[in-house]
Amino acid sequence: MKTTRYDVRRTTYGIRHTRYDNIRCIILAAGSGTRMNTELPKPLHKLGNEMMLERLIKTVKSSGINHIVVVVGYGSEQVEDILKKYNINTIKQSKLLGSADAVKAAKRYFTKFAGSLLVLYTDTPLIRKATLKGLINRHRRSDAACTLLTTDVNSPAGYGRVIRDSSGDIVKIVEEKDATAREKDITRINVGAYCFKRKELFDTLARIKKSPEKGEFYLTNIIKHFRDRGMPINSYDKCSEEEALGINSRADLSAAEKILRMRKIRQLMEGGVTFIDEKAKIAKDTVIYPSVFIQGEVIIGKNCRIGPLAKIRGKTEIDRNCVIGNFVEVVRSKIGENTKVKHHVYLGDAYVGNDVNIGAGAITANYDGKRKNRTTIKNRAFIGVGAILIAPVKIGEQAVVGAGSVVTKNKDVPDKTTVIGVPARVLRGVRK
Ligand code: UD1
Ligand code: MG
Repeated sequence: MKTTRYDVRRTTYGIRHTRYDNIRCIILAAGSGTRMNTELPKPLHKLGNEMMLERLIKTVKSSGINHIVVVVGYGSEQVEDILKKYNINTIKQSKLLGSADAVKAAKRYFTKFAGSLLVLYTDTPLIRKATLKGLINRHRRSDAACTLLTTDVNSPAGYGRVIRDSSGDIVKIVEEKDATAREKDITRINVGAYCFKRKELFDTLARIKKSPEKGEFYLTNIIKHFRDRGMPINSYDKCSEEEALGINSRADLSAAEKILRMRKIRQLMEGGVTFIDEKAKIAKDTVIYPSVFIQGEVIIGKNCRIGPLAKIRGKTEIDRNCVIGNFVEVVRSKIGENTKVKHHVYLGDAYVGNDVNIGAGAITANYDGKRKNRTTIKNRAFIGVGAILIAPVKIGEQAVVGAGSVVTKNKDVPDKTTVIGVPARVLRGVRK
């Protein structure tokens, strides 16, 4: 029977997704995480809001692989508990005898499977979908028994080094503990993600011997055995140093957190957000839409909506639950909570209270040619569309400035008063 090698599906949105039917995945998650110095199993440590293992599973699934087996060991019940919601098979490695032994434990899941196996480590959770796809595609297009993911790093200490011969062919992977001084200088590392032909993998695993150093069976030793048996080995080298980060200690975990934050910022910037100044502070649940320019000392409170296409300049504080919409520029101003400034507004040197509504096109004329002057708009005031407030001026609590009005300087509008016209005059005095 002919097996489908892969299948391209089309979603309702017209986006093409590749599903790999002939690739299945083994995730190794049995290790005890000794260097983390923790009782919580390493795969369950959180990166951002997500456990390392969950993050990796999501990446694998989004890359088009549905069939995943997780090898558990240390803290297996806790890990299995988390995996329940993903409907994923687990297999227990009875003794933690190393990564090769962990892969061997999963063998029985794949006896009738004719494709290839993607083997991943749970402590490399930053790996990207595109990288996994690149690795898989490279493997599928070659005849290699194994395609391994490698990258060049600045600090290779702790990683397995990829050793090649003079023609550039991969000879073996040497672990840090077994590396000679010359081998330690090699900066090309084993990321810990491999595609193996199933049969070649399980046939060759049996040849791996215990490392005298650690008493473990290293999966990485398989490369040497493939080479000895004349089986082709390939590599996929397009992986960034960041995503290759292996998390073995608390310090690695915190480095990974930083990488994730930077990734998010880069993603936001690609979406048009510009982070000009490190001084900006933005609280949680606030959404910054694309093409927002934030410059200097800017503080934005919780649950605000900023942009798209807004310019928030220095010495500005925006309190919680505010909406600052498109083509709004704010500088040296304070804006109270629940205030809405939705379209085409300029607020310069303004003190705006709570629950204020500022209509489209309203302007604070803060500059008189010599100095910058203040505009105060008190709580629950309503500024009509296209109004011009010539500073210095104060608009009272619950006051209304009619559409198109020009409130001239020092002609303060009392509380609960409506003004209209050019120049603005009182239409209605104090309302109840
Ligand atoms: C491993 C690689 C190294 C690579 C590095 C990348 C080996 C021998 N070395 O080193 O070449 O550069 O990752 O980060 O593989 N595990 C089990 N059962 C065990 C032992 C380990 O499931 O008995 C799992 C761990 O949970 C982990 C993975 O295997 O997910 C790797 O083990 P770890 O101890 O982290 O290996 P490293 O020293 O980081
Ligand atoms: Mg590791």
